[in-house]
Amino acid sequence: MDRPARVALLVGSLRQDSFNRRLAHVLVGLAPQNMTFDEVPFRDLPLYDQDLETDAPPAPWQQFRDRVRPADALLFVTPEYNRSVPGGLKNALDVGSRPAGRSVWRGKPGAVVSGSTGGIGGFGANHALRQSLVYLDVPTLPQPEAYIGNIGNIIGADGTLTRDDTRTFLTKFMAAFGAFIDRNRA
Ligand code: FNR
Repeated sequence: MDRPARVALLVGSLRQDSFNRRLAHVLVGLAPQNMTFDEVPFRDLPLYDQDLETDAPPAPWQQFRDRVRPADALLFVTPEYNRSVPGGLKNALDVGSRPAGRSVWRGKPGAVVSGSTGGIGGFGANHALRQSLVYLDVPTLPQPEAYIGNIGNIIGADGTLTRDDTRTFLTKFMAAFGAFIDRNRA
């Protein structure tokens, strides 16, 4: 396809100075030319409640769904909370998945990057997210996997990477994601 892929970027942390948000912006800067990004916020989404899934669901749910729907691909960059996905991101997945049969996620190629101040790099969150993405029918980049440990030492307050080997790895990751999108986009 000639048109660049529109990638919805979902950052799992809500906090202002999130390392993962900084990491997400680094990834955008390292992406190949055939991708554009839209960082889709979800901090103000009401918790998913099936009782609200009427003909007039909460406006923030509608706005979120309308913003993700036109995306060609999905990039998730997330911390790990208690070995799983932060609640806000899980809520966003749930909101986007409904009403039944009208999920905004289905069929869009995705990639997952997890970042943690700890040494394990958010492995638990990365794979908990992948578990939901299987159900949501999001084909997800299998390799390379990206678990970014000790993230507080790898990204400075100005948002730049402190390590060349990490930059090289993340550049390869984004190139692989770009090729994966080309193979899998509708
Ligand atoms: C954490 N953190 C954390 N780290 C980890 O490696 N495994 C974990 O299970 C958890 N659990 C956890 C729960 C909660 C509620 C908080 C607030 C934090 C630490 C986490 O990696 C660290 O706070 C990161 O800086 C969060 O990412 P952002 O917000 O900087 O992107």
